[in-house]
Amino acid sequence: MRLWLGATWIYAGWNKATDPGFLTRGSSSFIGTQLTGYSTQSPIGFAFNKMIEHSMQVGIFVMISEFAIGLATLLWVTPTVAAFGGFSMSVGLWLASSFHAHPYFLASDSAYAILWLSYLLMIRNKRKGFSMSFERRGVLRIGIIAALATAFAGVGKIFTPAAVQESAAASVKTKVMKLTSLKVGSTKNFVLANGEPVVLFRTKTGVFAYSAICTHQGCTVGYSSSSKTLACPCHGAQFDPFKAGKVVIGPAQNPLRSVKVAIDGAWVVLA
Ligand code: FES
Repeated sequence: MRLWLGATWIYAGWNKATDPGFLTRGSSSFIGTQLTGYSTQSPIGFAFNKMIEHSMQVGIFVMISEFAIGLATLLWVTPTVAAFGGFSMSVGLWLASSFHAHPYFLASDSAYAILWLSYLLMIRNKRKGFSMSFERRGVLRIGIIAALATAFAGVGKIFTPAAVQESAAASVKTKVMKLTSLKVGSTKNFVLANGEPVVLFRTKTGVFAYSAICTHQGCTVGYSSSSKTLACPCHGAQFDPFKAGKVVIGPAQNPLRSVKVAIDGAWVVLA
């Protein structure tokens, strides 16, 4: 169990360190995009909403923590702390992304939370009555683990592919919603498979959509019918959805990402 959990957490950190999009704003795998998705789906969405502004720091923290927990587990350094860290992270991921998984047993995060908890209890039982007498050596080991975790996160960048390769367009069109549920002149929100929130518009001439992720620091924009803009609640940026999502009011500098949609029979689909 120790080997499996340790190796899995190191792999999770490595996966993020070698993902060119994880710390790149605008990428579909950007941590800020994931946090935005969590903020709309999670039962503790308000907490993730607060983290969006600090996406880069959150991403680096998660990546280094995964390496540190994995390494500490494999090398048996502060095993109780590492197990508690793994348990907390699994519970956090479960609340963030797989809380609504149905049926529940398909959510791997909850299974990992139980696995970490069992492992933690096993360590606690084994160590009953054991006195901690290696204070200085313990601190040194923690320092080495922290340095190794940071180094792994940095080394991962060397193995990062040069460019983010977006997957080829699926041959089967993804249905977004029935056309009848989107009246002419109205807007609707929906979420892409990667958790990215999108605002969809229907006018007399057709449909169009934009990513709802603000290009300033990643908060979620919403349509304001009074100003006819997509407005960001964090620092007040506004975008014009009728002019290619261009910035009307800063501090954002770049337009919103356009999401290609089309009408296909009775459906609005991803084009
Ligand atoms: S995140 Fe700053 S204006 Fe949107």
